Amino acid sequence: MGKCSACGDWNTLVEEVQNAPEAGGNAPRAKSAAVVRLAEVQTGGGVRLGSRIAELDRVLGGGIVPGSAVLVGGEPGIGKSTLLLQLAGALSGAGRKVLYCSGEESAAQIGMRARRLGVAGDVLLATETALGTILATASELEPDILIVDSVQTVAVESLASSPGSVAQIREVTSGLVQFCKRRDMAVFLVGHVTKEGAIAGPKLLEHMVDTVLYFEGAKGAPFRILRAVKNRFGSTNEIGVFEMTGQGLTEVPEPSALFLAERPMHASGSAVACTYEGTRPLLVEVQALVTPNAYGPPRVTTVGVETTRVLLMLQILEKRSGLHIAGQDVFVSLAGGVRAVEPGIDLAIMAALASSHMDRPVPEDTALFGEVGLTGEVRAVDQARGRVGELGKMGFSRCVLPRGNADALAKEGVSPGGIRLDPVRTVSEVLDQLFGM
Ligand code: TYD
Ligand code: MG
Repeated sequence: MGKCSACGDWNTLVEEVQNAPEAGGNAPRAKSAAVVRLAEVQTGGGVRLGSRIAELDRVLGGGIVPGSAVLVGGEPGIGKSTLLLQLAGALSGAGRKVLYCSGEESAAQIGMRARRLGVAGDVLLATETALGTILATASELEPDILIVDSVQTVAVESLASSPGSVAQIREVTSGLVQFCKRRDMAVFLVGHVTKEGAIAGPKLLEHMVDTVLYFEGAKGAPFRILRAVKNRFGSTNEIGVFEMTGQGLTEVPEPSALFLAERPMHASGSAVACTYEGTRPLLVEVQALVTPNAYGPPRVTTVGVETTRVLLMLQILEKRSGLHIAGQDVFVSLAGGVRAVEPGIDLAIMAALASSHMDRPVPEDTALFGEVGLTGEVRAVDQARGRVGELGKMGFSRCVLPRGNADALAKEGVSPGGIRLDPVRTVSEVLDQLFGM
């Protein structure tokens, strides 16, 4: 049936495999479960496998946990296969046995790519799309790590629906996850993302695995950001930064330099924020464009920051600083395809908006961080010391920051090393510091 007779929606019915009920009455004849004391559980010592790709290890929470299932999602062409092939090469170079199962490309294609990437030749490769065959191969070869590219191409023979359908994705994933958990084998699954930005298949897929990583990048930019959106073994704030080159993905251990590389000098509408991503400070350029509205109702468009945050900053500027931006079109974006959800970016958003509106540049040696509250007060954020340190490293000489943070730094006796700290308490003080108004 195409239409559900209960709710009336189309294409929502999902095929289920029904196990035949056992003969002999309906009393459950299950054995009782094996129960152990929590203190006596075998944990494998918490050993993680280092992947030799530091940016990936960080996002995973410090390496690969044996027996864990990791889903790597991303749009087609973003570099998922490249990343996993390089991972396979790095792991096999470290003496691990890796089985790479691809249902997407032929062995010759993968071989050619591996040679171009300089991937070590000991990776075991199978081009296979039947789940049963993949599991049989894995149980025979007993690799430390199994890579399946992609869940959408693999199918369970007992289901009539085609590969990539919701029912298939669910069966394939649960089959792989259960198999690998029992054998302490880590499994990496590739999942394509639909245009709407969700991993094709139900949200259910994300519940079945331990870790969900998204591989993202801005159109046309060489940077790729690996982000954990779920992690049973680590924080979800960490990001890994890569650059796509002719020789595959290379790590970017100092992403601030990269994100500021093309920053315009003496241009209005640009402000540098010092945000925090996981355990790492990150400098990003906030760009704003405030223009008279000429076509239809005024719009606020954002890339990389939340629209509600920008709207809030606009309202606060309007009410607390005497700048009248209302009725104009506003665009705000983070350069380089980064995303920031952390409140410490507020001051830079505000500075970029005010700068574009007045057509006056923010001094280029100055960076900002701090949260802005509804009454226009500037609130302290965490990790002030790390943020100021990063500014020093990147050659900035002045930092506008919340008074609370400046006081705390002074109390801790932190000397900012050549950086002038300009504490602010209110939005008007920020504008005064930046534009002398
Ligand atoms: P791929 O890993 O195939 O993406 P996915 O598996 O996510 O669909 O990456 C494909 C893109 O990456 C392709 O458009 C070309 C680019 N690329 C490079 O620029 N350099 C390289 O060394 C490789 C292998 C790919
Ligand atoms: Mg691919």
